[in-house]
Amino acid sequence: MNDSQLLDAISQALYSTKETQMSSYELGKYVVEHDIEGDIIECGVAMGGNFASMILGAVSLEKGTNRKFWGFDSFEGIQLAGEKDTQQAGIGEITHNTDVPYEDLLVSSGITSHSQEQVMNNLNTWGLNKYNIELVAGWVQNSIPLVNDRINKISILRLDMDIYHPTKYCLDIWWDKLSDGGVVIIDDWALDGVRTACYEFFEEKGINPEIHTITNSTPTYFFKKTKQMISPQELFNCNEYEEIDKARFENFDQLGIDFNDKNILELGSGIGNHTKFLLTKNPKHILSIEGRIENYEILQKLFKNDKVVKTLHFDLEKPYPKFNKHFDWVYNYGLLYHLKNPFEALDYLKDLPHSNMILETCFLFDGKENNVFEGEILTQAVSGYGSRPNINLVMDKLLEIYDTVLKPTQPNHIWYNKNESDESVLYRIVLICKNKK
Ligand SMILES: C[S@@+](CC[C@H](N)C(=O)[O-])C[C@H]1O[C@@H](n2cnc3c(N)ncnc32)[C@H](O)[C@@H]1O
Repeated sequence: MNDSQLLDAISQALYSTKETQMSSYELGKYVVEHDIEGDIIECGVAMGGNFASMILGAVSLEKGTNRKFWGFDSFEGIQLAGEKDTQQAGIGEITHNTDVPYEDLLVSSGITSHSQEQVMNNLNTWGLNKYNIELVAGWVQNSIPLVNDRINKISILRLDMDIYHPTKYCLDIWWDKLSDGGVVIIDDWALDGVRTACYEFFEEKGINPEIHTITNSTPTYFFKKTKQMISPQELFNCNEYEEIDKARFENFDQLGIDFNDKNILELGSGIGNHTKFLLTKNPKHILSIEGRIENYEILQKLFKNDKVVKTLHFDLEKPYPKFNKHFDWVYNYGLLYHLKNPFEALDYLKDLPHSNMILETCFLFDGKENNVFEGEILTQAVSGYGSRPNINLVMDKLLEIYDTVLKPTQPNHIWYNKNESDESVLYRIVLICKNKK
């Protein structure tokens, strides 16, 4: 079986979305690829779905096969909630007394109880038992001290025990062993107690890590590093971006929009890959705006001596810049959903002296107004928040500003042509907004 078939087989034993599984796989690969030293650990393996996916990612690269993989679990299910939890995971209301020493809560709630034997069988079935894996049974608060002197360095710490106390315990005991550049995955970010454990921990350590989200999923992860892990060049020039840009540019060419001798305002220019493309359309002038300073520095350097392109560093979540100049076109690709309040940005367009806009963004199709996500830092949200605006509300707003809003032929890429009811992939649309005058 290849990795993709194995991941499918493993997904039968998941307590999470397929995207979460994929991110476990990718992060397993990531630490090996980036030579981040240390064992890969999950606390709360349950049936072993995400544990196995991290292993598979790591061993997919040959140099990962010597890593040690530790799977901790009570193998009795989730423990009882404590004072800082607001629910008993998988059950709801907390009905027991939480005002007791933590040891008294090391009792199974009966939820997600899977035996060590079952996990071992699963790992055998998936062909992973040949790797350096150790399962440790018991409540982590008791079991970790018994093996901790055999763990020197950690590259991934995946915490999935649903409860404040064991989460905080693991962060406290292992942070110093986590390699620089190592990653902590918090599966239960949606649970108050677990988030409290993280925030208390951040405060005690005086850190404010960027919280990365996973599409269509509640788990998050953060790196033991204050700097962004990958450079803007690595991000914008990675295969995924190159592929989507190729489809966008081909599509733009098909649309027959005339930028010749026009004034263009480009919003959210990144490191200038689209600006370079727009320059080939012989515009009179391009004002290229970018909010993330590390991207802007590259953008500015690139067009320092250019006669047509001017650049501006501007965070589009701050009060918007005012222009006297009139723009024929606003070129707005991949920006709107990186803003916490995309509707405010659309309001701004009302006062912006311009005629037309080509807009591309991710959308939301359910009834909600605007999904706001925290920490979509890898996808370039300056504030650390991103959003998925509702398509109908965006259309209403656009029609207040423009005479016509058209959905033209879309780029030839899966992100633009998926089934609208399938929430598992980012759904993007290109719209052309025009004024007659
Ligand atoms: C939601 S499940 C984990 C799902 C699994 N990680 C996955 O991705 O498929 C939670 C697990 O945490 C374990 N658990 C909860 N509290 C624990 C504790 N204090 N010590 C050890 N295991 C614990 C439970 O036995 C259960 O298997």
